[in-house]
Amino acid sequence: MDDAAETPVTHDFDKDYWERRWGGGEDGSPAVMGAHPASPYLATETSELPAGTALDAGCGGGAEAVWLAARGWDVTGADISAEALARAAELAASEGVGEQVRWVEADLATWEPDGRFDLVMTHYAHAAIPQLELYDRIAEWVAPGGTLLVVGHLHTHHTGHDDHHPPAEASATPASITARLDPDRWDVVTAEERERATGAHEGHVATLHDVVVRATRRG
Ligand SMILES: C[S@@+](CC[C@H](N)C(=O)[O-])C[C@H]1O[C@@H](n2cnc3c(N)ncnc32)[C@H](O)[C@@H]1O
Repeated sequence: MDDAAETPVTHDFDKDYWERRWGGGEDGSPAVMGAHPASPYLATETSELPAGTALDAGCGGGAEAVWLAARGWDVTGADISAEALARAAELAASEGVGEQVRWVEADLATWEPDGRFDLVMTHYAHAAIPQLELYDRIAEWVAPGGTLLVVGHLHTHHTGHDDHHPPAEASATPASITARLDPDRWDVVTAEERERATGAHEGHVATLHDVVVRATRRG
């Protein structure tokens, strides 16, 4: 197992970076994030769960939070970027679930929610703290009997950082994530590497290499 996900990130994935990713702006800004359909893993991993309270940690443009809200969940979407949350709120309103989601501008590295959630999920969030520490933090927010769903970039040996290859520090493996889940407190349901094609980008279809981990917190 590669432990690169343990190393501190070298890129500053701070609020300023993410606001520029979501808002665009001056020349030299990183590529602007686009809207996308809800992650397909959401349906496969949550459709058998009873609706309850949910937190989407690093919710971005809100596709996953809105998907859950439309299925009866009481959702909180948290993100460090006000630009992202503004887009997410627009999406929720346009899908008719504006009342079922609350949006919280928060830094997941320091934020503490008021309560615990029946489902805590994160899709591709990477912050300015090591990736596995981020997962440790959000796992603490799962209520007894609740579910943790982590979808992230799979750690591969690609070096460099571009639109199709996230930095190594932002990636993980199923084993590196489940190793942090105390077996006395967690039952791992899913721990897999998956591949999926995204929409065509500049004439070619990109393949995403993902890690998907779902675990249930013992009551
Ligand atoms: C790659 S995007 C993924 C967004 C969305 N979950 C998706 O799948 O499209 C990563 C998200 O994490 C958010 N983020 C990064 N660092 C964060 C932090 N420290 N606290 C909260 N959100 C953060 C970013 O603003 C961004 O929206």
